[in-house]
Amino acid sequence: MAAIFAQGLAKHFTPEIKAVDGIDLAIEPGQIFGFLGANGSGKTTTVRMLTTLLRPTAGRAEVSGLDVENHAGQVRASIGVALQEAGLDDIQTGRELLTLSARLYRVPSSQMKARVDELLRIVDLEESADRALKTYSGGMQRRLDLAAALVHRPTVVFLDEPTTGLDPISRDAIWRYVGELNRTEGVTFFLTTQYLEEADRLADEVAIMAAGKIVAQGSPAELKASIGTDVVSLRIGSDEDLTRASDAVRRFEGIEDVRVVDDAVICYVRDGSSAIAALVLLLDGANIRPREVTLSQPTLDDVFLRKTGHHMEADAAADAKVRKSS
Ligand SMILES: Nc1ncnc2c1ncn2[C@@H]1O[C@H](COP(=O)(O)OP(=O)(O)O)[C@@H](O)[C@H]1O
Ligand SMILES: [Mg+2]
Repeated sequence: MAAIFAQGLAKHFTPEIKAVDGIDLAIEPGQIFGFLGANGSGKTTTVRMLTTLLRPTAGRAEVSGLDVENHAGQVRASIGVALQEAGLDDIQTGRELLTLSARLYRVPSSQMKARVDELLRIVDLEESADRALKTYSGGMQRRLDLAAALVHRPTVVFLDEPTTGLDPISRDAIWRYVGELNRTEGVTFFLTTQYLEEADRLADEVAIMAAGKIVAQGSPAELKASIGTDVVSLRIGSDEDLTRASDAVRRFEGIEDVRVVDDAVICYVRDGSSAIAALVLLLDGANIRPREVTLSQPTLDDVFLRKTGHHMEADAAADAKVRKSS
């Protein structure tokens, strides 16, 4: 039985706003599943449907074999959730918040203290446990959110953008705790992120969302291999040269796909190292000298780029800036 299952799952807020537009999921127990997508692609709406907070307009979903509409109460009792807008109460301490969360989830009082202490230790908050939450950094708050979602030993945990806006070290820390809880308690994690690169390193399976649809799904290695090419990136000086350059490289017989992103022409080719010379020669024939030529293996961003025609990372960076300054 899948830990999380969805078939044709959809949420149309209006006929125009198809936030989630028919997605299928089958996530095995014990996996760390990365649900990737830019702002507005439908990640939170999906999480809200899977966690019974929002009714689907079409399709169905199950968590641990329980239908999210017909068995909403049972689903809620068996899952842990940390949503994006967590709204922590400032004057509470970390320990108080976890204890409150344990009460809400009806953790037996005989087990409460031990479970709270254990989670504080796992997310490295023992020393700050009795400080007010307003003194916590963003990373500490997210770690506490994570702990709070786990007090009642749920089998499936949903984390909505647990790392957005955090610095890279704090982001890695969150993934490390997720990994530890996954190993030690067998928890299945469904976590959303805008950072393709961290999901690439840390998730077992990922799905990439764009405009309410899943455009790619599988293990990061499978997805990257599915592209089946190397990536040659040619940075070009001026805008009009950019168009001419992308026309020129299309004449290369080994070319699989070409994308223009910012000031670069991205070429997907079978054998990158032998293609470089031919590509530069074609540019030379059009009187264009690239400012920089790089050869790389595909990343998840390349998967995203090939499926959707644009990069995703810029959004996440912009979002991080907004959060920092607010
Ligand atoms: N309650 C709502 N009413 C109308 N539109 C909504 C509502 N919630 C989300 N949307 C829209 O649905 C789309 C997907 O949003 P969301 O699921 O929050 O995306 P993500 O979490 O990937 O940023 C967006 O266009 C958003 O504006
Ligand atoms: Mg969201």
